[in-house]
Amino acid sequence: MTTTIQTVRDIALENPAAVRVFEKYGLDYCCGGRVPLSEACAAKDVNVDDVIASLEAAIAPSSPVLKDWTKESLASLTAYIVNTHHAYVKREVPRLTELAGKVVNRHGDTRLELSAIQAKLAELGEELIAHQGKEEVVLFPYIGKLERFVSGSGNKPRDCFGTIAHPIAMMTKDHEIAGSLMAEIRDLSRDYTPPDGACPTFRAFYEGLHEFELDLHQHIHLENNILFPRAIVLESSGV
Ligand SMILES: [Fe+2]
Ligand SMILES: [Fe+2]
Repeated sequence: MTTTIQTVRDIALENPAAVRVFEKYGLDYCCGGRVPLSEACAAKDVNVDDVIASLEAAIAPSSPVLKDWTKESLASLTAYIVNTHHAYVKREVPRLTELAGKVVNRHGDTRLELSAIQAKLAELGEELIAHQGKEEVVLFPYIGKLERFVSGSGNKPRDCFGTIAHPIAMMTKDHEIAGSLMAEIRDLSRDYTPPDGACPTFRAFYEGLHEFELDLHQHIHLENNILFPRAIVLESSGV
């Protein structure tokens, strides 16, 4: 039973299906999810009873069950993040960049927000690709080795960062930057609403940006709220 005093983040952790409800109402469950549901709803001017009703419907036994990543190995979670969310970013950034170029060329002189969105998207894409690279090359392999060591099937991994909390703090900061850029794109596009009579390319661009935001929130949720806290506990259990 969900209550209004539970934090948005904890509800999302207990019930993976809840993230779809939070997306629907524009409630932040990743970087800003450490506030009670009632407070998050008030800040967004959303009726908390409506959200509770939607949450209860979404987590009903008949709903499709999403994988509970709090119980899987960290190696399988990082593999899932790389194959699903990182692959999506690598695929979508060039596609959205191309669409941005097209809509700016055709409509940029009358829709001044488009060139601002194009610039924010370029910044976001560059940030995310660099960030994912650090996770794939340094942090995720280290977590995998640490997990094998703690389970007794490998040597203690060598690190160059003292404690895993340091790179995790850097990654969390990157997530905040990416989340802010995404929020600016949402504002500039008026919640991804194309103007009346917009051409199919314009619509596809805004739809693509909206999907990109949904994926980014789920991606950051898996890392900030599940992977990183579990990796910190794992490190302390292996000392
Ligand atoms: Fe990631
Ligand atoms: Fe990340």
